[in-house]
Amino acid sequence: MDHVFVDLDRLTERQRYKLLSGTIIPRPIALVTTVSLDGSTNAAPFSFFNVLSSDPGVVALGLELNKDGSLKDTTVNIRDTEEFTVNIVSMTMAKQMNVCAYSFERGVDELERATLTPVPGTAVKSPRIKESPASFECRRIVSVAVSRTRDIVLGRIVGAHYRADVIDIENYYVDAQALDPIARIEGTNYATVRDRFSMPPHSLDNALAAKRFSGCSGS
Ligand SMILES: Cc1cc2nc3c(=O)[nH]c(=O)nc-3n(C[C@H](O)[C@H](O)[C@H](O)COP(=O)(O)O)c2cc1C
Repeated sequence: MDHVFVDLDRLTERQRYKLLSGTIIPRPIALVTTVSLDGSTNAAPFSFFNVLSSDPGVVALGLELNKDGSLKDTTVNIRDTEEFTVNIVSMTMAKQMNVCAYSFERGVDELERATLTPVPGTAVKSPRIKESPASFECRRIVSVAVSRTRDIVLGRIVGAHYRADVIDIENYYVDAQALDPIARIEGTNYATVRDRFSMPPHSLDNALAAKRFSGCSGS
């Protein structure tokens, strides 16, 4: 089947968004908690999110402007305090995460509206969310203004909290089934990561054996 070439520079912002967010899927969701300089708590989900490094632990967030051109509360709070907490969203928290996405007025505590429970941070001022199976406390390393409307924030993970059933702390093994995170497909569609498969460890012998087994030809 033929492929079509798409020149991204010719697309509108909306077209690019549809294309990219519909292709690079699923995207994990960070429910980000921050505090403002006057001490009010804020929470909002971000799916332009991932972990980019483990030495040190680094996460990235893609922050847009609001539709009216103003900065999101999360962006303002991270600029002001240089701290934020990433809370992993499990299936049981899906509806509450969605409440936090609503553009409430600045100063409104989304956690209260979503009936989620803040727990004081250990190494940062931003609280973690008690209902979240895992939370990462982060300090901003750098914000990159990739355009007039987009900031990418890199944060160093300085500490992590895990619900006891999610982690085998002797072996640093995280139980994906207990974590049960949701991810964004596109628009209002979401996925779980309950459908999984295993492959033998990566080695040339194993790869060749698998090829023979599936009847593939070629060297
Ligand atoms: C699942 C989901 C993922 C989202 N991802 C992003 C994102 O990556 N970047 C962004 O700027 N907004 C994203 N949003 C929208 C923000 O959550 C929304 O604008 C929110 O009101 C911002 O709140 P704040 O002003 O309190 O920071 C997402 C919304 C949802 C529901």
